Amino acid sequence: MRRSVFIGCGSYLPERVVTNSELAASVDTSDEWIVERTGIRERHIAASGEKTSDLAIAAARSALTVAAIEANEIDLIIVATATPDETFPATATTVQSGLGMTRGAAFDVQAVCSGFIYALSIADNFIRAGSADTVLVVGAETFSRILDWKDRTTCVLFGDGAGAVVLRAAEAKGEITDRGIHSTCIHSDGRMHDALYVDGGPSSTQTTGFLRMNGREVFRHAVVNLSAVITEALNGLGLTPTDLDWLVPHQANQRILEATAKRLGFPLSKVVSTIARHANTSAASVPLALAEAVGDGRIKQGQLVLMEAMGGGFTWGSCVARW
Ligand code: ACO
Repeated sequence: MRRSVFIGCGSYLPERVVTNSELAASVDTSDEWIVERTGIRERHIAASGEKTSDLAIAAARSALTVAAIEANEIDLIIVATATPDETFPATATTVQSGLGMTRGAAFDVQAVCSGFIYALSIADNFIRAGSADTVLVVGAETFSRILDWKDRTTCVLFGDGAGAVVLRAAEAKGEITDRGIHSTCIHSDGRMHDALYVDGGPSSTQTTGFLRMNGREVFRHAVVNLSAVITEALNGLGLTPTDLDWLVPHQANQRILEATAKRLGFPLSKVVSTIARHANTSAASVPLALAEAVGDGRIKQGQLVLMEAMGGGFTWGSCVARW
């Protein structure tokens, strides 16, 4: 059988770091409140004129370097983003030309914070079906552009960044010891629109709009849905939490992360957390955390990793892979 093996990952964070205390100079908030409620201490913010595609291209280049492949070896680029450069064309096509690619296909996926998991699921299906051999999957966001900086309940929570992975088809035995993706589970519930959305768009207001959120509602559903989709993934593969080496969760809030791990009886020492330094980077948060944990040697080849995310829609999902 064919499996999608991770052959490289990379990341990019904008240069400018904004601490909670700096934010507190212009927003009615405090470092103490933000740290206690979210675990966030600072976030990276894109420079003026720095676009989502710029972040995505930088992350993609670092993933290609680690994978030791040329851009023209890629058959498909999927960019997960809720903050595209423009309404169209897809940011993925800008990434394609930015990488100097003259072949293949490129498109965006919109599942907000779950976008990277959705994109992995699509990429894995393309590879398993034999429709692509090498796929670049990028999660990239400039959420700072859709934040209402007068709304303290949301603007303190997000940051900008990008992460990327390269997946390549490999023949496998069909056993849990195989390297590569073993399962992806994705879900959505459109009835939850009002809990987390952007109040604008080309077809509704002809403006970009700002992020609006009912934080408590999101928190409540996040822990329940994430625990359920992790259990679904484990049960589907006949695994228990003890079989996992690492949990790489969407970085929304340290309390969501801890509550989910506790519900599963999963030790926090095996949970990758970047929330303190990156804040919530939406579709970029899982690949950013992945790139960090692989880069510093925590995640090693042969280890079993579970990634999960939940975001606006609601959308949520998980991916189990042997690194
Ligand atoms: N600074 C200081 N005070 C604040 C701030 C702020 N930035 N924001 C809100 N407050 C105040 C509120 O006004 C309220 O004051 P009041 O009691 O006088 O009315 C008080 O703090 C408590 O507000 P709550 O909203 O009840 O605080 P809560 O403990 O629920 O924490 C938070 C809010 C952090 C948003 C939490 O609900 C949360 O993390 N929800 C999940 C949201 C999330 O992760 N969204 C990301 C997108 S989806 C995803 O990625 C999963």
